[in-house]
Amino acid sequence: MPLVSTREMFNKAYAGGYAVGAFNVNNMEILQGIVDAASAQKAPLILQVSAGARKYARHEYLMKLAEAAVETSTIPIALHLDHGEDFAVCKSCIDGGFKSVMIDGSRFAFAENVRVTKEVVAYAHERGVSVEAEIGKLAGVEDDVKVAARDALYTDPDEAVEFVQQTGCDSLAIAIGTSHGAYKFKGEPKLDFERLEIIGKRLPGFPIVLHGASSVPQDLVALCNKYGGTIPGARGVPEEMLRKAAGMAVCKINIDTDLRLALTATIRQQFTEHPEEFDPRKYLGPAREAIKKVVTHKLVNVLGCAGKA
Ligand code: G3H
Ligand code: 13P
Ligand code: ZN
Repeated sequence: MPLVSTREMFNKAYAGGYAVGAFNVNNMEILQGIVDAASAQKAPLILQVSAGARKYARHEYLMKLAEAAVETSTIPIALHLDHGEDFAVCKSCIDGGFKSVMIDGSRFAFAENVRVTKEVVAYAHERGVSVEAEIGKLAGVEDDVKVAARDALYTDPDEAVEFVQQTGCDSLAIAIGTSHGAYKFKGEPKLDFERLEIIGKRLPGFPIVLHGASSVPQDLVALCNKYGGTIPGARGVPEEMLRKAAGMAVCKINIDTDLRLALTATIRQQFTEHPEEFDPRKYLGPAREAIKKVVTHKLVNVLGCAGKA
């Protein structure tokens, strides 16, 4: 099966009450760990690449890695641009073989976000590529988000409806309290499920995307810190909240930080326990296994997409 767009995956996910995992890829071991897990679990899969990943690993290499994943597995795999900041980067990915792109105009005012998203949608749809867009701001940990601030930052349901109607985007990333990175909550973790429910009702059947959805597993944080890491107090989105969101309108859940933690904790452990080793395969191999383990857990216990390929 060639690389696919996310359209069919999302239709099935919406109807089935589960979410597809979108995992960030930066190198071969990360990609292999993800694909091995999804293949073993027969789960549909979104491999996503940020502009930074594309700069680091280079477009052509990432394309070939994704093509190798497709050739060696039987699950549907989409290759998606994560947080495309302008038309140029989206065009470049579409021209270069991606089947799904995100145009992230969330930093702009509504009208400019609509304008740039429409531009990408027109180009992408002519070429069979799906488009994710975003409105609302993902609150950082520093925002001890009070009710008034929440209304300013989180996605406004009326705007979401208008935005989707005006742009024709295929999925929409919304802000309901998640944030990127390993420090998501100072106090009690909280997501605005009421807002998600309203948006879901106002946009029936329409796929919603949750960014900043790593759960920051505490065993990985502890392992990292045990072997010299300094990431005290890292906290993510509780898994039961992600599971709840996956049963609602959320069809795509983005995970990067958990993969970084798994990889780094494992490499730290290997370096400490085997200081005599200098063969990269000796630490990258276990790191790849750690990625596979964390992704398997997500697919089976959190996203609900195991067996849905
Ligand atoms: O949402 C951001 C992703 O974690 C990608 O991060 O831009 O450092 O590759 P990056
Ligand atoms: P995390 O930092 O929570 O893994 O979020 C990743 C993400 O949203 C990528 O777009
Ligand atoms: Zn994101």
